[in-house]
Amino acid sequence: MIIAVVSQKGGTGKTSITTNLAACYAAAGHELMLVDADPQHSALDWHADRPATLPPVHALHLPEQNLFQEVQHLHQKYPLIFIDGGGRITAPARAGGSALGGGR
Ligand SMILES: Nc1ncnc2c1ncn2[C@@H]1O[C@H](COP(=O)(O)OP(=O)(O)OP(=O)(O)O)[C@@H](O)[C@H]1O
Ligand SMILES: [Mg+2]
Repeated sequence: MIIAVVSQKGGTGKTSITTNLAACYAAAGHELMLVDADPQHSALDWHADRPATLPPVHALHLPEQNLFQEVQHLHQKYPLIFIDGGGRITAPARAGGSALGGGR
């Protein structure tokens, strides 16, 4: 499952939703990858502050260029991926939508 949290409007809760989803699924015992596709790196900042005593969340930043291909590659290792999209969301939306059959 790939979930991309995207919105063209800023400050609407994308990072809050994505990081909370990641934390909840990690707490439930799932291995997952949190992809920060926002140049602001907000999700990575959240990840850096996450105490090591909590269930692990893997996280990395991916630029919009090649996001679709990179997420498909990651999906082979991580069945569960959450994408925090930035303000310009074309590539994150495509990367998430593809898992639902939305194509490229
Ligand atoms: N730690 C915090 N304490 C208080 N308010 C916060 C905190 N983090 C975010 N907010 C507020 O919650 C709302 C949603 O923030 P969030 O960062 O999740 O939105 P976003 O859609 O990811 O923003 P952006 O488009 O800049 O990436 C905003 O109004 C933000 O100011
Ligand atoms: Mg954000």
